[in-house]
Amino acid sequence: MTTDKKDSFLKRLLKSLTKANELGQEDQIMTNHDYDGIRELDNVLPPWWLYGFYITIIIGIFYYVQVFTNPEEYSQEKEYINEVAQANKAIEVYKNEHPELFKVDVVLFTDAENLTAGKTIFLTNCVACHMADGGGGIGPNLTDDHWILGGGIEKIYHTISEGGRTGKGMISWKAALKSVQMQQVASYVISLQGTTPANPKASQGDIVWTKQ
Ligand code: HEC
Repeated sequence: MTTDKKDSFLKRLLKSLTKANELGQEDQIMTNHDYDGIRELDNVLPPWWLYGFYITIIIGIFYYVQVFTNPEEYSQEKEYINEVAQANKAIEVYKNEHPELFKVDVVLFTDAENLTAGKTIFLTNCVACHMADGGGGIGPNLTDDHWILGGGIEKIYHTISEGGRTGKGMISWKAALKSVQMQQVASYVISLQGTTPANPKASQGDIVWTKQ
């Protein structure tokens, strides 16, 4: 008895949600359209679908009001900027939590091939400020043992990758040069130490570092 009732409730629910026409009574909703014997029924739109449609209209109006009548509060540009800022923060947090994943093992090259590659990079990008022989100009002398930002492959790599102090003219090269290229040119810079440039700029920097 109870199952009967349940069934009939489910059936009623289903019927109210679909408003499907009873099987066998198609003639009640038959249209006059006949396409090569294929005929068309005029079923009502199922209410479950119709309500979904109404809901999307309401959400659409709500969204329209939110987005287009209140550009101060909301705009796609702001949303984008906020999301990028959030993502950048998340990246920083992740980098701080996993420093081992982002650490570049900086290598000091001493072989001819990598030093020649470093020299080419130096002559292409750095001579305007450091001179071809590293004697210095706008930038400091790279052949002496005095360093403003620190000597040694790691620190020199860091200077090239991240740039010098703001406003001094030494930009960050990590967007222009690959990590290995920065290692090559840093190694080349170190190889210049102790050479005698034509017009050496007076030593700058309090850090003294000499290669072994
Ligand atoms: C536009 C001029 C300019 C260019 C181009 C330039 N530098 Fe510099 N460089 C500077 C200046 C200025 C400093 C000093 C930065 C400071 O005082 O913070 C500097 C500092 C450095 C230092 C640190 C020196 C020290 O005493 O600590 C290194 C190493 C260096 N540059 C290497 C390079 C390399 C390699 C390139 C090419 C990829 C390059 N620079 C391109 C201007 C330049």
